[in-house]
Amino acid sequence: MANESTASISDNVVWHRATVTRARREAMNKHRGAILWFTGLSGAGKSTLAHAVEEQLHRMGCRTFVLDGDNVRHGLCGDLGFSAADRAENIRRVGEVAKLFMEAGVIVLTAFISPFREDRNKVRAMVQPGEFIEIYCQCPIEVCEQRDVKGLYKKARTGEIGQFTGVSSAYEPPDAPELTVKTAEMDLQDCVQKVLSVLEVMDI
Ligand code: ADX
Repeated sequence: MANESTASISDNVVWHRATVTRARREAMNKHRGAILWFTGLSGAGKSTLAHAVEEQLHRMGCRTFVLDGDNVRHGLCGDLGFSAADRAENIRRVGEVAKLFMEAGVIVLTAFISPFREDRNKVRAMVQPGEFIEIYCQCPIEVCEQRDVKGLYKKARTGEIGQFTGVSSAYEPPDAPELTVKTAEMDLQDCVQKVLSVLEVMDI
């Protein structure tokens, strides 16, 4: 497994301490680094919301970056498909990258279906309490399917695409997300405000 082999070949690597610390970066940024982890079905509005929140944070002078499933799967995770094992590896890599961004003092927003609770919880466990903020973009599959922006639900229904989340592969909603936004019912700007309020309460 990727994780085990990485662990064994890294045995003789010694961690190098930076003098420009995370605390110094955060003091300069005037905000903390954090991971805003958006999860939900394809078409639930994760990317739209993540980018809208980023737009707002950027205007407020925050350092931000969005990691988006459709983009990351062209590069860093271009070798991965949609089996449970490949999705787990996708989320593990994204988690590691998000953690690096966070340590660089950035508010990183990730928009991945991340359908499996265990995979999301592993990322949560990689960082300190309060650093992983899980935002469940809750949207009925009927609505996602009706939107079908990329035409993928149609292909999933005819069997042209297999293991499609919500159709032929499971989506496990979070048990205790920091925030749930009902993207089919609420206006985008209201969803953005809800996310910003959580950041304020969590003193990011
Ligand atoms: S995840 O499950 O590993 O988190 P990720 O967010 O990276 O998925 O990628 C999801 C995107 O890939 C979808 O928005 C969709 O455009 C595309 N996609 C292609 N095949 C599938 C599939 N079988 N299941 C879900 N999404 C798919």
